[in-house]
Amino acid sequence: MMIKSSEFIKSITHLRDEPEAMPEFLLIGRSNVGKSSFINALTNRKNLARVSNSPGKTITLNFYLLENAFYLVDAPGYGYARRSKTLQQTFLKMIEHFIIHAASLRAVCLLIDFKVGPTPDDIMTYEYLRSLGRDIIVIATKKDKVPATHQFKQEQEIKKLLNPTTFFAYSSVTKYNLDQIEAEIRSKI
Ligand code: GTP
Ligand code: MG
Repeated sequence: MMIKSSEFIKSITHLRDEPEAMPEFLLIGRSNVGKSSFINALTNRKNLARVSNSPGKTITLNFYLLENAFYLVDAPGYGYARRSKTLQQTFLKMIEHFIIHAASLRAVCLLIDFKVGPTPDDIMTYEYLRSLGRDIIVIATKKDKVPATHQFKQEQEIKKLLNPTTFFAYSSVTKYNLDQIEAEIRSKI
């Protein structure tokens, strides 16, 4: 499977500026976990979403239209320490508001770092999404950074801590499980 068409639509800071209603998939997770890289891998584009070595680059909700059928929505990462507390709160409010009110939101992709495992923030976010009854797809990124001999054990650890209903270990470098994640998303459109 492959995504044939993708385009950046707009960046917003208020829900009232949302583009035309279409099924939406929100990507959230810690700053630097690989959300923008995931969008680029899925769309097979090098620079559709902005990737950076310095975390905290994404500061708006960014809408990408795929296959003229659904949006991937890139959100600012949480837990970026060098951002002011006030700005952090503003982002969280915006994301929370979106999760609660977006009528076309089909699922939230919660990205966590495969090597680091779920952080307290990740666990809190997962529980919060569950409490809202949202469909959650957990994607553990950067699997390529863990030695092959430790991957199985690490995956068991993650599952034990988070107990996710839908889980994919993933890598934007090797594209491991990319097709499976695409299929999961398409099945929820
Ligand atoms: P914010 O926009 O700051 O929230 O970050 P983000 O979650 O969008 O992360 P981004 O995609 O910008 O990636 C951050 C860094 O991690 C970049 O240097 C990427 O090249 C790297 N990276 C992302 N995914 C992977 C992966 O699967 N494997 C490896 N090895 N590096 C990755
Ligand atoms: Mg980003």
